[in-house]
Amino acid sequence: MQTTVKYNDGGQIPHHVAIIMDGNGRWAKSKGKHRVFGHSQGANSLTIIVKHAILRRINTLSVFAFSSENWKRPASEVSSLLKLFSLSIKRELKELIENDIKIQFIGDLTKFPASLQKQMSQAMEKSKNNQGLNLNVAVNYGGRWDIVNACKLYMQDVLLHNKDINALDEAVFKDYLSLPCDVDLLIRTGGEYRVSNFLLYQSAYAEYYFTDVLWPDFNEADLDKAIAFYQKRERRFGMISEQIRGQDAN
Ligand code: IPE
Ligand code: IPE
Ligand code: MG
Repeated sequence: MQTTVKYNDGGQIPHHVAIIMDGNGRWAKSKGKHRVFGHSQGANSLTIIVKHAILRRINTLSVFAFSSENWKRPASEVSSLLKLFSLSIKRELKELIENDIKIQFIGDLTKFPASLQKQMSQAMEKSKNNQGLNLNVAVNYGGRWDIVNACKLYMQDVLLHNKDINALDEAVFKDYLSLPCDVDLLIRTGGEYRVSNFLLYQSAYAEYYFTDVLWPDFNEADLDKAIAFYQKRERRFGMISEQIRGQDAN
């Protein structure tokens, strides 16, 4: 869909990149392997992309690892995914800390087994003061859940802490979401043109980049292509081109 443009190291770098890491199952099937093999290769792609995001000075990277709808998959696939999350945290945590990455798991974590919840909260705790890349991993996450949950949290503040309901506006509301910061570039791999309930509120003004590359094949050059696409966009936020360029509109 997008024409290929070259990444420019001096160009604008998106502050917040979100990725819907799709296509693991099809990648594995195309190689005559089980879908789960695709998920474990997908975890390796994430490691590569996190390193490259740091090299490219991306501030925040948010990745969709398990949606609130993914529980509907065959039980064996769900349980393999949960095992993979646990294994990946064990395997990667030391290096994440060494690379100054602050990891956050976003989503309704209460639905996961207690042992996995504990691993996730320990990883967040251990990395909470890190100053490098903000890495947000969305698990049992849904954009609609996030918005409804933020409403509930605000209502609790109204009922229990005398917060004024009329004080609620967009600037206040965003801090009740699992992530307050707007997405600049949203990438979806795997050839589908949909957002599947990811960061709905935060992506209101994101630039969308869709690629047919399946997630386990997505590499550094592919991330550069997505950034290059971003660098060519003119983000108008409702204005007209001349305003953005500081030119006379008449
Ligand atoms: C994305 O890959 C990973 C998860 C949703 C957990 P898929 O598993 O959706 O792969 P495809 O879309 O079936 O190829
Ligand atoms: C979206 O992929 C969720 C993740 C990448 C974790 P899906 O493969 O679940 O999305 P749909 O079901 O095709 O929309
Ligand atoms: Mg999929």
